[in-house]
Amino acid sequence: MKFNNAAWISAPEDAQTCPLFKKQICLRGTVKKAELRATAMGMYRFFIDGKDVTDALFMPGWTDYVKRVQVQTYDVTRFFACCKEYAELSLLLGNGWASAEIFVGVVHPYIPRAAAIAELTLTYADGKKERFGTDKSWETWTNRCVYSELYMGETQDATLEPQRIGYAQETHVKAKLVPDEGEPVVEGEIVYPRALITTPNGERVIDFGQNLAGYVRVKCRGPRGGKISFVPAEILDKDGNFYNGNYRNAANRCTYTLSGGEDEFKPVFSFQGFRYIRIDEYFSEDIDLSCFNAIAVHSDIKRTGRFVCGNEKINQLYSNIIWGQRSNYIDVPTDCPQRDERLGWTGDAQVFCRTAAINFDVHKFFRKWLHDLILDQHKNGGVESVIPIVKGIPFYPASGWSDAVTICPWEIYLAYGDKQLLSECYPAMCKWIEYIKNEENGSYIWNAGFHFGDWLATDAPYGSFSGATDTSLIDTAFYAYSLSIVINAGNVLGKDTSGYRTLREKVVEAFRRKFIENGLPKGKPAVCCSSEQSTCYTQTALSLILYFGLGEEKDRKRQTDALVELIEQNGMRMTTGFLGTPYILHSLSENGRDDIAYSLLLQEKAPSWLFSVNMGATTMWEHWDGINEKGEVWNKDMNSFNHYAYGAVFDWIFGKAVGIQPLLPAYERVRICPHPDARLHFTDMAFDTRYGTLRAKWTFLPDGIRYEYEIPEGACAEIILPDGKKYEVSKGNYVFFTK
Ligand code: BGC
Repeated sequence: MKFNNAAWISAPEDAQTCPLFKKQICLRGTVKKAELRATAMGMYRFFIDGKDVTDALFMPGWTDYVKRVQVQTYDVTRFFACCKEYAELSLLLGNGWASAEIFVGVVHPYIPRAAAIAELTLTYADGKKERFGTDKSWETWTNRCVYSELYMGETQDATLEPQRIGYAQETHVKAKLVPDEGEPVVEGEIVYPRALITTPNGERVIDFGQNLAGYVRVKCRGPRGGKISFVPAEILDKDGNFYNGNYRNAANRCTYTLSGGEDEFKPVFSFQGFRYIRIDEYFSEDIDLSCFNAIAVHSDIKRTGRFVCGNEKINQLYSNIIWGQRSNYIDVPTDCPQRDERLGWTGDAQVFCRTAAINFDVHKFFRKWLHDLILDQHKNGGVESVIPIVKGIPFYPASGWSDAVTICPWEIYLAYGDKQLLSECYPAMCKWIEYIKNEENGSYIWNAGFHFGDWLATDAPYGSFSGATDTSLIDTAFYAYSLSIVINAGNVLGKDTSGYRTLREKVVEAFRRKFIENGLPKGKPAVCCSSEQSTCYTQTALSLILYFGLGEEKDRKRQTDALVELIEQNGMRMTTGFLGTPYILHSLSENGRDDIAYSLLLQEKAPSWLFSVNMGATTMWEHWDGINEKGEVWNKDMNSFNHYAYGAVFDWIFGKAVGIQPLLPAYERVRICPHPDARLHFTDMAFDTRYGTLRAKWTFLPDGIRYEYEIPEGACAEIILPDGKKYEVSKGNYVFFTK
């Protein structure tokens, strides 16, 4: 993609962080059509006669700017509707992701000074075209957005009289420009303040009642020069005081100076993750709560799943999962939205991908991110654990993280049936296998390099980040899992997969030799906070063995019993971390132990999903015990209260409890195989597929269980009820009973 008549511009060095570039243009006649193209190495908003034409936030979106920068195209004809002779074009530029301080102080990762380029093409009534592009004739102005950084917050001064400080500087930017393919980031739900609290420390805090990613909009009238300044937090500490220690270096401060008239403030190029704000400055004694709203921002993904059941705590958990996804799908799938991180961690993305595609339509969102991933894959097939790559910080390939390259394309294919995307990803999937093959060097056991392991599992000594599961067991298990996916994908695409099948057999054989003895994992069994630094005998190891099919069929029962025993020894609780948790309930259900799967789902003591719900969580926590029973915080360096990874449990609720599984991509043909349990009373799921809404419900009645299904037109289903009866159905409504 090219601009015909525009140059990259940036502001003089001493300009404020968000310069405004302006240009007056003369129109030569009636405008029939007006099209604007714009992008930035930073973030921009574009205005015509002071009116904002940018219909999304944080443009041009986050890519690996070294490799590609997205260009947005806007139809701006409506701004030229009246016969005017002049127009004023202006562009506000911020540092955004490209020129920000990203991840614990990595400054300006992609470009030292933010730059932008834009071009307006006018087509007059006589058919003639005229182009107006950014160049050094554009003036540079000060403006009320004095300071803005993604992590640091924003300062706006409405008293500031804009001043011309010179002209734009043309600058050379080497970037491949591509059309925007992302899902635009937009403002979503508005959350109204729930309470104004004066904490025991005497601080004034607004509680919005919901943790979210977005910003606070302030609408007020006050004295000219009066100030409002606040910082966000996700939690209050055990004494009820404001706590933002877990934000690390992200200052997240918003400061606004009032004009004296009606004012409205919200950040332009920054967002925060928060439930509370502490008001440090306010222009009058009394804080008027009605001035404040929290606005959630997220990629414009449409909701596709709606679930409710007879257990209020599980309903709250579901709400937390939905809010976790909204908060972390901001152009790329991130780990968290609040501290100085907010990166495209591949492990988190792959773990949650299936759930994500049930909750929302994430097809376009993932297509863009998978293109980022393919582009960032190294020549040797390595995929870093953060995508887009952040220039200057190598996040080395790691098992369970980089396997996103196989897992996500496959999950997205199953959810939406996009064969084209799968075939675009297939070479990258194969190259990833080549990468591991080189690393394991003929041993079929992958243990080279650094790996995160079962991140944040609780079976290692207290305080460890990585769980007790032997990392080479995890690495090799994911090697085999990625191979299975490559085989499945290859089969769909009509490729010869025999080589991968043989390789998988060898990997599985080697896995059994190295890690399994008499059907069970080798080593000492690990329970919670065990002294074992590394063992093969853990809940995670057993879950991976069962779910990835790494043991012998004859040993399934023993392995399931062993898993149940470990869970029971731990007081019917999990010890699993990022890599074991998504599979543990599936492993139990697929091997006849729904009873234990439900007990884990409904467990209320940490580590468990409902522990955080009982502690008042409104989003998913990064740690099982981010706040412990005593109300103390786990750690301040790694303690997000808005991390969606453990929300992956919803794919078990959907796939096993409700029982919906795609037999053909895009849910053209589904298996509905409910696993009801009286402890939930009922489950009711409505799911918008490409074919229409699929509904599935079961209810415990005094004399049995009632099942209600609605199959949309164009889809069909195989229904298998717990009594073993099987029904083939197509469009229509169905009701069944079992005793
Ligand atoms: C992130 C995680 C991520 C991890 C890598 C953390 O800092 O927040 O979610 O996957 O690092 O282990």
